[in-house]
Amino acid sequence: GSRRRRKRLQDDPSLSRRLPQTIIIGVRKGGTRALLEMLSLNPAVVTAETELHFFNRDENFARGLEWYRQQMPPSRPDQVTVEKTPAYFTAPQVAARMAGYHAPSGGNVSALRLLLILRDPVERILSDYTQVFYNRAERGRECPPLRDFLLSRSTGRLRPDYKAVNRSLYADHMENWLRHFPRERLHVVDGDRLIREPLAELGRVERFLGLEPRISAGNFYFNATRGFFCLRDARRRRCLDDSKGRPHPRVDGALLERLRRFFREPNRRLFRLLGRTFDWP
Ligand code: A3P
Repeated sequence: GSRRRRKRLQDDPSLSRRLPQTIIIGVRKGGTRALLEMLSLNPAVVTAETELHFFNRDENFARGLEWYRQQMPPSRPDQVTVEKTPAYFTAPQVAARMAGYHAPSGGNVSALRLLLILRDPVERILSDYTQVFYNRAERGRECPPLRDFLLSRSTGRLRPDYKAVNRSLYADHMENWLRHFPRERLHVVDGDRLIREPLAELGRVERFLGLEPRISAGNFYFNATRGFFCLRDARRRRCLDDSKGRPHPRVDGALLERLRRFFREPNRRLFRLLGRTFDWP
């Protein structure tokens, strides 16, 4: 609990709250929680539990870096502090604000490094929609079918202004980020691969962050009921919350094909920007 943590903070002079040297900027529904939890299997990593919305919400940003720092968990000087707020990637003001922020040097990371986890943009829309569906169901409200969100009622065309579509237009957002950050400061995690082969993806992240590789096969075990990998370390075993890994709605073939066609060009543009491709259908 937090009381024990405060006590620890007072007793151990090497512990203090530090600004993050690494931030997971998104994308919403890309697997951001899984990435954060898995990364924290490395003992050199400490993570903020909640999404802080510091750079995207004006009222938080106005509170300043000292407020931001106070939200971080205690760490030792050799540890890396990581925060994740999936809304950062698609909020247009965030890249510039973050570029003006200088992570304290020291430890093994001297400048802010960004992690972004992407997944098939069509699958991501379905995941986003599923979340809306469940949120409404919890409040006893009905949710219109997916096509009502996706298609304009007057023209019948796909609506790029629909939030879930816009968030999946990765290239548009990426252009903005690359105006403010050098490419080598940004590592993109393959969210589809993270589901199937978490160890390989985490190894890449450890390398990118310059961490000693400490995450191993023993940290993961497949849970057949969930259909996902769960985590295990010396202290405990845990799966992600039930809200992660929910079944998606079935989409009729024609609509799905339209979505796929719609993203073909933006996806290619993203691959050019990143200098790599993804195995998206
Ligand atoms: P779905 O619920 O659509 O399957 P985020 O944390 O950014 O909201 O991402 C949620 C997604 O993380 C889930 O989307 C799920 O596919 C993915 N995920 C990746 N690895 C997972 C794991 N080990 N357990 C549960 N979900 C995982």
